[in-house]
Amino acid sequence: MNLITTKSENLRGQIRLPGDKSISHRAALFAALAQGESRINNFLVAGVTKPLLAGLTSLGIPWEINSNTLIVQGRGFAGWETPVDVIDCGNSGTTLRLLAGALAAVGIPATLDGSPGLRRRPMNRIIEPLRKMGVRIIGDDGHAPLRLEPAGSEIRGIDYSLPVASAQVKTCILLAALNAEGQTILREPGPSRDHTERLLQSLGVPLRSKSHRAPAAAGNFGGNQSKERQYVTILTPQHPPHLPAFSLHIPGDISSAAFIIVAALITPGSDVVIENLGLNPTRTGLLDALSRMGADIDIQKQNEYMGEPNGTVRVRYSKLSGIDVDGELVVRMIDEFPAFSIAAVYAHGKTIVSGAKELRVKESDRIAAMCKELQTLGVPVAEKPDGFIIPGNNIPKGGRVSAHGDHRLAMALAIAGLQASGPVIVSGAEMIAESFPTFTKVLQSSGANLSSEGGI
Ligand code: S3P
Repeated sequence: MNLITTKSENLRGQIRLPGDKSISHRAALFAALAQGESRINNFLVAGVTKPLLAGLTSLGIPWEINSNTLIVQGRGFAGWETPVDVIDCGNSGTTLRLLAGALAAVGIPATLDGSPGLRRRPMNRIIEPLRKMGVRIIGDDGHAPLRLEPAGSEIRGIDYSLPVASAQVKTCILLAALNAEGQTILREPGPSRDHTERLLQSLGVPLRSKSHRAPAAAGNFGGNQSKERQYVTILTPQHPPHLPAFSLHIPGDISSAAFIIVAALITPGSDVVIENLGLNPTRTGLLDALSRMGADIDIQKQNEYMGEPNGTVRVRYSKLSGIDVDGELVVRMIDEFPAFSIAAVYAHGKTIVSGAKELRVKESDRIAAMCKELQTLGVPVAEKPDGFIIPGNNIPKGGRVSAHGDHRLAMALAIAGLQASGPVIVSGAEMIAESFPTFTKVLQSSGANLSSEGGI
């Protein structure tokens, strides 16, 4: 499907967005591990969550969706069934990595596989710690398909330092740790999203998080301290493991809101209000970055459900200036760089992104793909090994670009066209349904000129 965007007038409206993708994955999985019926409102029904739900069916977990409420009949840690077939995780790295941890906890053998895109993504980051915990993993070369054989083996708690900050890896290990012998201590080099910790704590799991300065590198004398911080999570398992059933209202996904926020910021006269938006501080890096660029963003916190804050965000058209982004801010906005890069294109002055090598192993190599497609639109972006440089003061000229099989790239390129000098045609835009199925409708109803060709 092609999505065509042409120059648009002011965007206006009050918007509510589909549920947060990360919280939706965790809520469904924790509900399956819980004992009894859980109800999850504003669950994200989209390409990335469907494989998880299908996987739960093959593991003997009954569930149904009533409008956008997911109802799960949890079977506890002892009631999952061995799947007959390979579990297809589609394009969803979160499904594969989180399910691997849950399978270790319930002691069920299974094979996890996915799309060609998912098979390219690195899995050593979960294979290594799971093996250290005693899970047998067969036939791997660091990529899916992964055959897990936790059955019969005793899972041990570990003290493990993640080489890169990753909430998927952290969650995989924490899930396995729920049924391990002994405590698990995880150390991360950055503040990856902490939905797992918040939800598990509110379900009564003894879990603590703290951060402190990282110890100096080995070989340093004199008590030198690194400037970097280390993020530590400690989980003490209960035996037998138990999660109670729960009710949860999932806030709107800030990673989907990113595209609406940037669209409003670059379109003169815009004034958009987004309600019930997730405002977990490990996810709001984009709002901080845009505010530093001069964005007019007003944030009103409102409620908290199971430790997850939400609120209303009002965004008005703003004159933006380029900034430098690196360090912990990169971790707190890791999924937002496609949207952020469009704000940088329309800003005055240079934007430099560094320390963002992880972007190369997302749904696409987001550094290479974004740079290539922006260059097609006449924006002289420079690629760096760990980020990119956008000169600013550039009006894209319009043209044909590709989504590279990546939902976020498709949405970013579509909003790039809102103020371009010619139409922007994004091919492969059907990928948008992976995380934000109502993207086109939401933008159209706010006044954006977007149309699809080839049907969704
Ligand atoms: C996610 C964590 C992030 C993010 C992904 C969802 C999660 O990945 O990019 O879209 O739900 O835990 P990493 O953990 O690999 O950084």
